[in-house]
Amino acid sequence: MATTWWEECIVYQIYPRSFQDTNGDGIGDLQGIIKRMDYLVSLGIDALWLSPIYCSPMADFGYDISDYQNVDPVFGTLDDVDQLIREAHTRNIKIIFDMVFNHTSIEHPWFQESRQSKDNEKADYYIWSDSIPNNWQGAFGKRAWSYDEKRQQYYLHSFLEEQPDLNWRNQEVVDAMFSILTFWLDRGIDGFRLDVINCIFKDKTLRSNPRIVGSRPRPYDMQRHIFDRNRPGTHQKLRMMRQLVDAYPDRMLVGEIMVELPGEPELAASFLGRNRDELHLSFDFSLAYTRFNATKWQRSAKRWCEAIGKNRIPSWVLNNHDIPRIVSRLSGNVAKTKLAALFLLTQRGSIFLYYGEELGLPDSKVPWKSIRDPLGKRYWPVHPGRDPARGPMIWSNEKGFGFTDGESWLPFASNAASYAVAEQEQDASSMLHYYRALIGMRREETVFRRGTCAYLDTNNNHVVCYVREYGDEKRLMLLNFSGRKQRVSIRDKHYPKSDWILRFTSQRMLSDAKAETFILQPWQGCIYSLKSRSS
Ligand code: GLC
Ligand code: CA
Repeated sequence: MATTWWEECIVYQIYPRSFQDTNGDGIGDLQGIIKRMDYLVSLGIDALWLSPIYCSPMADFGYDISDYQNVDPVFGTLDDVDQLIREAHTRNIKIIFDMVFNHTSIEHPWFQESRQSKDNEKADYYIWSDSIPNNWQGAFGKRAWSYDEKRQQYYLHSFLEEQPDLNWRNQEVVDAMFSILTFWLDRGIDGFRLDVINCIFKDKTLRSNPRIVGSRPRPYDMQRHIFDRNRPGTHQKLRMMRQLVDAYPDRMLVGEIMVELPGEPELAASFLGRNRDELHLSFDFSLAYTRFNATKWQRSAKRWCEAIGKNRIPSWVLNNHDIPRIVSRLSGNVAKTKLAALFLLTQRGSIFLYYGEELGLPDSKVPWKSIRDPLGKRYWPVHPGRDPARGPMIWSNEKGFGFTDGESWLPFASNAASYAVAEQEQDASSMLHYYRALIGMRREETVFRRGTCAYLDTNNNHVVCYVREYGDEKRLMLLNFSGRKQRVSIRDKHYPKSDWILRFTSQRMLSDAKAETFILQPWQGCIYSLKSRSS
């Protein structure tokens, strides 16, 4: 069966502000990404996803766009984009851009025009109302409606006041957004990560969402989002987007789906389309929000696979720019972090990594005076915001850690030098080498990318056990999700123990397997392959 690249790719997300600065302003830029291209090749990844680099007043650091067809000067120029595409493509790396379709910046010329009057050319580009029509809340706090003095009406914003929601019921808006896709596809961009894509379409009559009983810290989470998210019309728009993108060879759409926590995998899967004619891939964040526990991770992964089904492709992700980094979620425990990575990189489908993940980089500590994220400013100290997960990449142990010659826009992680790429390159037992090894194995062995996955019964509920199978190739994964040594025997009669040979381990094996059972060290993950019986 022929596969296309996005069905089994490893995508590396870069938060451009924090990857590599080249002009000393303390903010990463496009030339920085170009400079590090060979490092990216050395990781074995297939594609880069860049968080937004378009012109923006940066109220939400690029997720508030004021010009979709230009590059913010802080990141560089359109020429830099062209150079980036060229440099990436010659190395067989794809470039995926982040596309924010739900809202623009308040400074976008469309909004500037729209707010002038009720009857200008862009009057219906956004969602306006004489009074507050419903109970909708902004995901970042406050009501979703703000009053505009100039137009003397309220406008809808599902996020910050600086991010007015576009009106996707207006065909001109749809056409404008589609022509933006075309603009970048023509330039050679290989795909898009679509920001909060299940939010774009709103209820026609703006009905109030039903309330949820109980108490949750965010008013936004106190209602069921049936009228401001997931409207049926979204699917039709996605089918059109898919057609547009598929008219170009080898392009891809991956969608961020806003869900109720800890996750709604069935909902995320629904945006792939029943006939595989909507998004190519969508994110399910359940694992990131699920306690690190064998039963829970197994259940979560299984549920996602079931939601996806055999004929569509699951994607897997533990980190991004909105959530604390995995090593910090796991309280700095490196063995657990390695186990999580083994789980991630032995799943079927496509994998999304986040810059610094391969270094085991923890969250930066961000004191009040250094907070930049509007969420952090609003909710500190209850919620520190998202800056901690956006700390600068650590390249070396010099001043500025190879990230910048100037003052970094966000603080570095504590003990930054110990995570530096240059240091980890020298150390065979480092996280960097570990990720490379797992990625390398995945690249080489089809079974990891395409094989079926079956969870096996064991006598031990601290251990997750699954078999991946592709043709004659079989791999057995055993993951000990506990801080104690565990003994496992596999009950499944199809796989007698004696046939398995250890191929990979997340830590040095300290004790051998006894006759009928496997013995795993605390937090140890192992990969075995099946010795063919005829040999
Ligand atoms: C998405 C982005 C997040 C942004 C929000 C509003 O969730 O990942 O960073 O703040 O959308 O655009
Ligand atoms: Ca810079």
